[in-house]
Amino acid sequence: MKPVELKNGIYWVGAVDWAVRDFHGYETPRGTSYNNYLIDDEEPTLLDAVHHDFVEVSIENISRIIDPKKIKHIVINHIENDHASGFARILDIVPSANIYLTDRGKKGLERFLDLSRYKVSVVKSGDTLKIGKRTLQFIETPMMHWPDSMFTYIKEEKILISQDAFGQHLATVERFDDEFVNNRSMDELEDSVIDYYANILMPYGNVIKGKIEEIKKLGIEIEMIAPDHGVIWRSHIDKVLSLYSDMVDAKAKLSAVIVYDTMWHSTEQMVFPIAKGLEDEGIPVKIIKLRATPKSVAIKEVWKSRGVIVGSPTLNNGIFPSVAEFLTYLKGLRPKNRLFAAFGSYGWSGEAVKELYEMAKAMKLEVFEPGIRVLYKPSEEDLNKCYEFGIAFGKALKEYHAKT
Ligand code: FEO
Repeated sequence: MKPVELKNGIYWVGAVDWAVRDFHGYETPRGTSYNNYLIDDEEPTLLDAVHHDFVEVSIENISRIIDPKKIKHIVINHIENDHASGFARILDIVPSANIYLTDRGKKGLERFLDLSRYKVSVVKSGDTLKIGKRTLQFIETPMMHWPDSMFTYIKEEKILISQDAFGQHLATVERFDDEFVNNRSMDELEDSVIDYYANILMPYGNVIKGKIEEIKKLGIEIEMIAPDHGVIWRSHIDKVLSLYSDMVDAKAKLSAVIVYDTMWHSTEQMVFPIAKGLEDEGIPVKIIKLRATPKSVAIKEVWKSRGVIVGSPTLNNGIFPSVAEFLTYLKGLRPKNRLFAAFGSYGWSGEAVKELYEMAKAMKLEVFEPGIRVLYKPSEEDLNKCYEFGIAFGKALKEYHAKT
């Protein structure tokens, strides 16, 4: 894609990755983009780089605006590889550029690059840099997404460069939120924001909440939020801020998701009467079979649902591997404010349900016990018990939702 002008003299010069489906183990069915930005001011400034596989695309985009050798300043808002692995190539072209990053950014990046060869300045919140007509203000945002992260605010243009925050893993021809909504839909954009938050930022909700409050107190006006992935926000800023406000509090609608896997369909047979019980209690329910669904999608559905019911057969005295993998991933994302229950079939020992509850308790989730277990294959009576289990969980979920 060609460069796209955000405002007079400020350009997106990134790259769209249409093909990526595995983003460090996180499935990205919609691809992604690596966004970086060029300010063509008296002292040309590059904000962030891109993944090293796409750095030539970004350099070509920069070249359509200025000779890349004229870049005077480089701001590194975040050192994760999807952004920072392209810097080595850019620094080959402009080794004399002044580099700005946080202290944690410098300590991290020097593990990958010999920074002693360059002019590096460590910046902190409140520091500014005049580049001509514009002034950059730096705002440290540790854990949004890594300890090194920061935002850069372009004061005169009221543009916030927000690196990972407010991003989406979306490969699109549209660069702005309103274009995407016009050509696609707000529902898809919202779903992408939630998917990204649930899989990338979920563990840091409290930190993000504090940082958003801090930015509000700075009283800075924002006309555009330009993240390092996905579309740039210029028309629906209130919408994405409101989505984040709900997400940092781990809010979810009264709904449930059943996430399961199965060996010989016995655990699977338990799913449908449980779902029917929930439906009859008026709880909207989604069903996710793990081996048929990307893990990231299952995580997103957990994030959207107040109630989480997990089903696993017992295999080798433990949880079925795909379910264990899912829960290990979920545990790292530190979910909260969810009511959990478990079920599953077994042949002789039947430890899986007990272990599922142990994992949920280790995550400090509220649990609805006891779970339900079935020997070998559910009988008619067992299926009725599953239905009653769904009804009982639905009632408990309504109470839990009302009081928390
Ligand atoms: Fe897009 Fe945390 O990197």
